[in-house]
Amino acid sequence: MILPILAYGDPILRKEAVPITPDYPELDDLIADMFETMYAANGIGLAAPQIGKSIRLFVVDATPFEDDEDLTEEEREAVKNFKKVFINAEILEEEGDEWAFNEGCLSIPDIREDVFRQPEIVIRYLDENFKEHTDRYNGLIARVIQHEYDHIEGILFTDKLSSLKRKLIKRKLNNIASGKINVNYRMRFPELKKKR
Ligand code: NI
Repeated sequence: MILPILAYGDPILRKEAVPITPDYPELDDLIADMFETMYAANGIGLAAPQIGKSIRLFVVDATPFEDDEDLTEEEREAVKNFKKVFINAEILEEEGDEWAFNEGCLSIPDIREDVFRQPEIVIRYLDENFKEHTDRYNGLIARVIQHEYDHIEGILFTDKLSSLKRKLIKRKLNNIASGKINVNYRMRFPELKKKR
């Protein structure tokens, strides 16, 4: 089932999400719905707060990056078949010199900006079977995970921009919050919700 994606301005996107236990109701269905919702919107990552659930869960499928001509062979191998579920994730380490990557977000349509982050992470998480993993990632994969991880901490990529950049996109962000935007996937806008 395709779920509506919450737009910028929704307070749920600002909450620190809580961990879940294996008895979380209908978790398999929720994960399947999140992948379906993400694919329908052509996304490569989706976090549970974006579909209105403030829990520490996000999904990633980085395979679309495989067609990116600028990738090195090593990067191509890393993104190929990278489809994963992250439950109760904790980033344990972030390392290296910050690099810029042009990020976007399904909750913030039509805005893309360069965001600086460190290139390497160590993350501890549970997979969909609640098996624990501690993995080290770098480059594009680390980038996607850092972006989704921010969602479960209540942080959006626009928070990481300079105050000048934020001023420049303020009107666009207000338009998104009030639903004054054309988007070709299912969304829920906080301002419209209030009026109803
Ligand atoms: Ni996002």
